[in-house]
Amino acid sequence: MSTSNWSNLVPHFERLQSTHMRTLFAEDSQRAKRFTRSACGFTLDFSKNTIDQDAFDALIASAKTAGVETQRERMFAGEVINTTEQRAVLHTALRRPAQDSVTVDGKNVIPEVHETLAKIKDFVGRVHNGSLKGYTNKSFTDVVAIGIGGSFLGPKIVTEALKPYRNKTLRVHFVANVDGHHINDVLAELNAETTLVVMSSKSFTTQETLKNTETARDWLLQQGASFDDISKHFMCVSSNITKATEFGIAEENIFPMWDWVGGRYSLWSAIGLPIALALGYDNFAEILAGGHDMDVHFQEAPLDQNLPVIMAMLGVWYRNLQGCQAHVLLPYNHYLRGFPAYVQQLDMESNGKSTNLQNQAVDYATGPIIWGGEGTNGQHAFHQLMHQGNTVIPADFILPVKPSHDDVEHHQMLAANCFAQTQALMQGETASEVKQKLIAGGMDEQQAEALSQHKLMPGNRPSNTLLMESLSPRQLGSLVALYEHKVFVQGVVWQVNSFDQWGVELGKVLGNGVLDALKGQSVDSLDSSTQQLVDMFSKVVR
Ligand code: F6P
Repeated sequence: MSTSNWSNLVPHFERLQSTHMRTLFAEDSQRAKRFTRSACGFTLDFSKNTIDQDAFDALIASAKTAGVETQRERMFAGEVINTTEQRAVLHTALRRPAQDSVTVDGKNVIPEVHETLAKIKDFVGRVHNGSLKGYTNKSFTDVVAIGIGGSFLGPKIVTEALKPYRNKTLRVHFVANVDGHHINDVLAELNAETTLVVMSSKSFTTQETLKNTETARDWLLQQGASFDDISKHFMCVSSNITKATEFGIAEENIFPMWDWVGGRYSLWSAIGLPIALALGYDNFAEILAGGHDMDVHFQEAPLDQNLPVIMAMLGVWYRNLQGCQAHVLLPYNHYLRGFPAYVQQLDMESNGKSTNLQNQAVDYATGPIIWGGEGTNGQHAFHQLMHQGNTVIPADFILPVKPSHDDVEHHQMLAANCFAQTQALMQGETASEVKQKLIAGGMDEQQAEALSQHKLMPGNRPSNTLLMESLSPRQLGSLVALYEHKVFVQGVVWQVNSFDQWGVELGKVLGNGVLDALKGQSVDSLDSSTQQLVDMFSKVVR
């Protein structure tokens, strides 16, 4: 097994290795059309990749051989594909219409999903119309949303991305880090009487979230609320109802979620409550509808027309054939600036694995390093390495075509930069082209020769350009689901379980031991470096 899912690609990769993309474009006048697909309001131009038609066909054949279609059906049907945790993987059920049916352990889960949506709708309505009041009988003006990882990144980036749709009278503040600077800064600006806290933790055991929630609770009490008032101000989203009630959250204030929803796939569940509070329930429902649009596309479109499949297989081409270690996301939209961090968790926590589904160590590369940042800012910072460094980093350029402002000139400049970057990465500029230009500008031959070696651009650097019609709630939902399914397809090809995250556990356990040491307890499991750090820190903080 091991690399057999993509062994058919090797001859194509070898054949194309010494062909520059400039040549591929020059040889095929239909190239842009040939490698462009549209669905769900997206147009994906993947012509600036180092493939030709035969290589593309082989990539699609690889996806088939790997069993992408079978695994896809198993996921949507609620089979236990998260085998190490013995769970179904059903974030897609969260965005299905009420009349659908998905069975887990003999029970249709869709009615519960829609009951929870109805609870969210009712709750959000009461907060927005001011009928829900705090301990001094005032309506709410602020929400502090506490959570981390999947219980934070999704709601945070969606709320940020859909700024034009935000409710004008309710502000939502996100707190994730256990760093006391964050929660204390946020609370310092707020009035406890009009502040609602939404604590989101699927497990209800996450140290950072529990600590931040305690701090918020203590703050509420210090501001004059009584213990009984807490239930008026604290809501919680969790699948661990027992632990939540033990913590003191009133049962009617708990919004449920289920173990078949992974943390990084959970913005569609009640974990999206802060989204609904920030944007209104109807916009949240639109996000779900957009996710469902992409689910239908992913399930129904032939593989060679299927956006998640195409993006995933191009990723395999670069990761496993070319050995590229990283993949960069470049949204050309200020509101999407948080999207690379979101996909970073989605992709790296899902496919950053080195044991396959047959419990064997894999001997090939899996998930790439995902990073990125908003354009055009990155052009004046890290793009230098992308253009001239000796590391090839495949890129996704993402541009919503219709802006949510009226300034055409700004938007044209933004788009021009986006498109020009893809062009520069693809075509580059040879030393002789640079030299000719320098000489034409008046430089002498020797100087031009020397400088051209520094100014040359190798080109042949791959990128996808993903145009979105606009950054609407519905299309944002589709965008998130597009990347979810891309990650899923790659997980199938790499034969890893994309839905567990055992790699985060050891740090949590050791963290508890180190915390005991910082609190003065003797802990004998610390190595000399860690012990030294503890000692130095404890001299200042005790
Ligand atoms: O530590 C990683 C992680 O388990 C993520 O997968 C998860 O989204 C996050 O922590 C938060 O977990 P919880 O929602 O249980 O607090």
